[in-house]
Amino acid sequence: MLDPVIAAQIPADDFTIEQRWAQYTPDEHRIWDLLYERQISALKGRAVCEFYAGLEALNLGSGGVPDLEIINPKLKALTGWEVVMVPHLVPDLVFFDHLANRRFPAGRFLRKANQLDYLEEPDIFHDIFGHVPLLTDPVFADFMQAHGKGGVRGHRRGMLTQLARLYWYTVEFGLMETADGLRIYGAGIVSSFGESVFSLDNPSPNRIRFELERVMRTNYRIDDFQQSYFAISSFAELFKTVGQDFGDLYQRLTDNQQAFNPDDVLPDDTIINLGTQIRAA
Ligand code: CO
Repeated sequence: MLDPVIAAQIPADDFTIEQRWAQYTPDEHRIWDLLYERQISALKGRAVCEFYAGLEALNLGSGGVPDLEIINPKLKALTGWEVVMVPHLVPDLVFFDHLANRRFPAGRFLRKANQLDYLEEPDIFHDIFGHVPLLTDPVFADFMQAHGKGGVRGHRRGMLTQLARLYWYTVEFGLMETADGLRIYGAGIVSSFGESVFSLDNPSPNRIRFELERVMRTNYRIDDFQQSYFAISSFAELFKTVGQDFGDLYQRLTDNQQAFNPDDVLPDDTIINLGTQIRAA
């Protein structure tokens, strides 16, 4: 996507660029506001409470595209994280290295008014509205850093595909079982108008209890809503999972590279909802 402010810059060695917030157009600020209002109404209590707390702490609905010079000091004071701007998707190792250092890489560009639901690559609405609120939560913030460090190590072990699945089914498309029922925490869902309803309410997808190795063996869809969602019980569970020694697990994943289809249901799964898969049929 052609963004003149990105095109005018040569990225630094770590792929970052300046946001140059003053150069967002009135149209772009209006599109952010529209996306924000629409998404808040679609979510209507569907997201985990930590997500709403983060939106409020960072005041992301205060009007227009967020200015990193305003949100970063707040985020840093809360959990030591900051958001950095990148021109486009960055190489995996660069991405994991940013996370390992508590920096979240976000795209600078914003989708156009005629593409509210369609995205070829993550834009600033997905990256900031979707990902950044949870970085205000101390446990999730630690989990994301641990995932980044694990990514740098796993990269050396040839585990990139498996780590991408873990990231996909947690950070992007994760659900959580709470006392109030299933809730969304994945950024790909909370930033999607259609999937924020589909993921919880539609009978089509499977909803399965999260299990690390199971998820790391499961392929995912990039062309449609997910056919299976995996639910954790808390961010503490997630942090504990990625904090463990991956040595034996990586050995098993290396010895047996068998992957499951996105809609497979396995004998050992703990099923929350068995999907009809009617959407994919
Ligand atoms: Co994302």
